[in-house]
Amino acid sequence: MKAKINVSEIQRMKKEGRKITCVTSYDYITAALAEKAGIELILVGDSAGMVVLGYENTIPVTVDEMILFSRAVTRGNKRSLIVGDMPFMSYQASDEDAVRNAGRFVKDGGVDAVKIEGGLRMKSRVEALTRAEIPVMGHVGLTPQTSPLWNGYRVQGRTENDAEGIIRDAKVLEEAGAFSVVLEMVTSEAAKLITEQLSIPTIGIGSGPFCNGQIVVLHDILGLYDKFSPKFIKKYANLAEEIQKAIEAYRDDVLKGKFPGEEHTFHMKEFKTRQIRRISRR
Ligand code: KIV
Repeated sequence: MKAKINVSEIQRMKKEGRKITCVTSYDYITAALAEKAGIELILVGDSAGMVVLGYENTIPVTVDEMILFSRAVTRGNKRSLIVGDMPFMSYQASDEDAVRNAGRFVKDGGVDAVKIEGGLRMKSRVEALTRAEIPVMGHVGLTPQTSPLWNGYRVQGRTENDAEGIIRDAKVLEEAGAFSVVLEMVTSEAAKLITEQLSIPTIGIGSGPFCNGQIVVLHDILGLYDKFSPKFIKKYANLAEEIQKAIEAYRDDVLKGKFPGEEHTFHMKEFKTRQIRRISRR
């Protein structure tokens, strides 16, 4: 097995011009498959609230739920850098909350780093986490934990003013100690500027090709979640259709008496009809 990836390696990848590949994962099996595929960074994203737990958005997700997902992922993947996504209100109230909850992610969830959303307003949180020696990933542009409360899911950085705000936010996070920053649904022009101006890696989602790495929600690229399908998603499989077909074929077989077949059936040793009659009379 290749060596475990740490935050220094992720930062070295930017310096050496190597692209960083990242996906979300919430369970043992996909975490192991992502490791086999050579993915460098796994985010145990709070998108789990939508694609696994069926919430309307990520707001209801709890720390306990995220730790359960984190445990499964860290059991399945021993190589990628695993980042735990801190859910809404697990860090917004105070630096102390942020450090205590991030500590739970590391101690109980087994993750290597945490991610929080927000720019300038999160400066002291990133500083507090860095002081506690917990690596932090920032997240600017569209911030899904609070965008449903304000103006919904919109592309960020369309105007010069807007772009300047995102660049400032990203720089503040870098100065505060973040080891990398996610840029979500940021115009490709603004994402390019940020990537050039930061020394830490930028990881884009819906932010064009110039970021140092890319992240996707696994359920989106596998075609497992179609309630919400923005322009930036590329489907690499249509697993929802495949799974539906498999479940229907199974049901059909059961109804027609084709499953279980002889090859799926266990038998008693030297079973004799007379013996079973005797047993059933007891
Ligand atoms: O929760 C998540 O999946 C995320 C990604 C969109 C970056 O935060």
